Amino acid sequence: MSVPRHVAIIMDGNGRWAKARGLPRLKGHEAGAESVRRILRAAKKFGVRYVTLYAFSVENWSRPPLEVQGLMKLLQFFLKRNEHELHDNETRLRVMGRRSDLPRAVDRALADLEAATAKYPDRELVLCLSYGGRTEIAAAARALAEDAAAGRIDPASIDEQAVASRLYLPDVPDPDLIVRTSGEERLSNFLLWQAAYAEFYFTPVLWPDFGEEDFKAALDAFAARHRRFGGVDAPSGGKS
Ligand code: FPP
Repeated sequence: MSVPRHVAIIMDGNGRWAKARGLPRLKGHEAGAESVRRILRAAKKFGVRYVTLYAFSVENWSRPPLEVQGLMKLLQFFLKRNEHELHDNETRLRVMGRRSDLPRAVDRALADLEAATAKYPDRELVLCLSYGGRTEIAAAARALAEDAAAGRIDPASIDEQAVASRLYLPDVPDPDLIVRTSGEERLSNFLLWQAAYAEFYFTPVLWPDFGEEDFKAALDAFAARHRRFGGVDAPSGGKS
């Protein structure tokens, strides 16, 4: 069975989950953080090497200040609570997004854990924080323009590789599978460049309810797909 090397997830539906229970939205995010723990364990169990999570978008800063503060606190709590697990599972933490937007304490906690887990080569958890696909591509375009203006590159030589190498985490392979929960079927500015050949899996399950079985269903759906990458036949075992 073909297991995706890299699964990226749009964790949607925390607010609706809370609302359905008459709870404040932050309770939904807290429950969502528990789903993250479950899914990291499931990813290890099923042999998924990279998991990328859309935890906070550039657009999310426009949410009510209390919700934004609550999410930042939750993130710090999540890092503390999962530090051991990342080490036990030999998982490297990475962050992609406009880091300078993050509160200093959050950025520092992330940087510490990134440094402490950088030694693990086999499994990665990528957290997208203050992330936007267009912002990422615009930053790469700016870097290219600076390199060209300084005479470091010839504009005529700019190709896909030149752009890709200036994205936030150029060494992380493109996602094979993108999952979105809660019944919404949109990319919402997530991994716009990297999603070029990804398979998509949409489920009505709200993120706080998403568990190992649901993750497995997404992997099964992926395994049943026939990937051609724009060619006429699927390379054996997929691109990965
Ligand atoms: C979308 O649900 C979810 C978010 C904007 C935040 C995701 C955060 C978590 C799952 C918890 C923290 C994550 C980590 C990694 C610690 P929504 O609020 O848009 O839900 P709605 O569409 O039902 O309102």
